[in-house]
Amino acid sequence: MTDKELLEAAEKAMKNAYAPYSNFKVGAALLCSDGIVFTGCNIENASYGASNCAERTAVFKAVSEGHRDFSAIAIVSSSGEETFPCGICRQVLAEFAPDIRVILSNKENAPVSYKFQEIMPYIFSLEN
Ligand code: THU
Repeated sequence: MTDKELLEAAEKAMKNAYAPYSNFKVGAALLCSDGIVFTGCNIENASYGASNCAERTAVFKAVSEGHRDFSAIAIVSSSGEETFPCGICRQVLAEFAPDIRVILSNKENAPVSYKFQEIMPYIFSLEN
């Protein structure tokens, strides 16, 4: 699975985004170490705080299906610019995959890749 293919899976998932309040659609594609991909989109709610981000949708789908080993996550949004995961999603990713690669799409529609530690140094964990 190439970075471009993972971004394409995220683009496809973004089509299912339910974002009538922000009009900001997000799609994510999470690559498991065994090659399986779980996708997710943001799902908003009239009670705004009940909304869920695309990244967490993908992680929760994977974990609830018994997958906890992740190697990469691709994220796209309707902004067409690099869209970084929010703080809550970073904390959720840190729980399962502190070494995950984060793949975003830039304005030229090209993959840009970050090490998780670059975007989330000094994670909170109960061990340190
Ligand atoms: N959103 C995501 O899905 N992922 C992020 O990392 C940032 C924000 C969603 C939440 C909300 O539905 C919309 O984008 C605007 O904040």
